[in-house]
Amino acid sequence: TLPSRVQIVEVGPRDGLQNEAAIMPVAVRARLIELLSRAGLNRIEAGSFVSEKAVPQMVATADVLQTIHVPKDVRLAALIPNVRGFAAARAAGVGEVAIFAAATESFSLHNLGCGVDESFRRFSEVTIAAKDAGLPMRGYVSCALGCPYEGAVDLERVVDVAQRLFALGCYEVSLGDTIGVGTPMAARSLIQRMTQSIPVARIAVHFHDTYGQALANIFACLEMGVAVIDSSIAGLGGCPFAPGAAGNVATEDVVYMLDGCGVETGVDLNKLLDATRFICGNLGRPPESKVARARLAG
Ligand code: HMG
Ligand code: MG
Repeated sequence: TLPSRVQIVEVGPRDGLQNEAAIMPVAVRARLIELLSRAGLNRIEAGSFVSEKAVPQMVATADVLQTIHVPKDVRLAALIPNVRGFAAARAAGVGEVAIFAAATESFSLHNLGCGVDESFRRFSEVTIAAKDAGLPMRGYVSCALGCPYEGAVDLERVVDVAQRLFALGCYEVSLGDTIGVGTPMAARSLIQRMTQSIPVARIAVHFHDTYGQALANIFACLEMGVAVIDSSIAGLGGCPFAPGAAGNVATEDVVYMLDGCGVETGVDLNKLLDATRFICGNLGRPPESKVARARLAG
């Protein structure tokens, strides 16, 4: 059986746009978030506060946050690597922050400029500040099903990093198949192993679709009781530090699948396609979403 209701965490304005060649203006980023919220998405990652040199696409996330008009029940999150990012995110008025760790040393070094232990030292400083400010904190584990530098990843390392994120006070941890190499049985084993020590309600999944497995992997996780799914409008994006990685699973495709399975999401597919049209028009490229291609054709 599947969960009766699933929360979708829309990461397109961050994970999507961070990897597009074209840097979108603040007004476009803000309008995209408004259209996503109008479609019924109420958890949206709006951007990140990271080094401008590392990810130029995410510069001016503060301006984006200050431009947006969305209802109060829409929670806007930002990705932050350290206390400096936290301070900027807080000043910009985010409703949530997300810290991001990796299951492998090599990916951590490429993505964060430091190893896993040092990243946790930085995150522990963020934790203190976040608690102080009363802001909820989400965590990510990258390379949960494979690493672009180390290949196969031992599940125990993934679980260990997730547990460290919970120990810091994350209310939810999102397991990232950063390079989209996972297949359904691997996804199932991961959730099985995670839920030996962590309640399934606190686990989210974050699939990139490099090998076209994301929807199948999500279905396998739904069957295990996972009810929080990260996805990106139009299937945009990837990670600049994961060579060859494609975009996240497309939000339109996830919503179509869940609608068809009778699982509630609160998202209106037709309104979602307004956001697809808008962002793809601005990027000057077609959507990766199969559903969007089918619906917007002609
Ligand atoms: P570093 O080089 O190790 O450290 O970078 P640093 O302290 O020497 O800082 C480098 C530069 O960044 C300095 O500027 C700092 O001032 C600046 P410079 O002196 O060279 O002009 N800096 C900052 N600027 C803005 N905001 C900050 C900040 N902190 C330092 N908060 C650092 C360390 C973490 C900064 C860098 O490696 C970085 O920004 N990395 C960002 C990585 C990133 O955004 N990756 C993509 C998101 S993760 C992802 O996509 C995976 C996920 O989707 C899940 C999945 O799919 O698996 C979440
Ligand atoms: Mg990602």
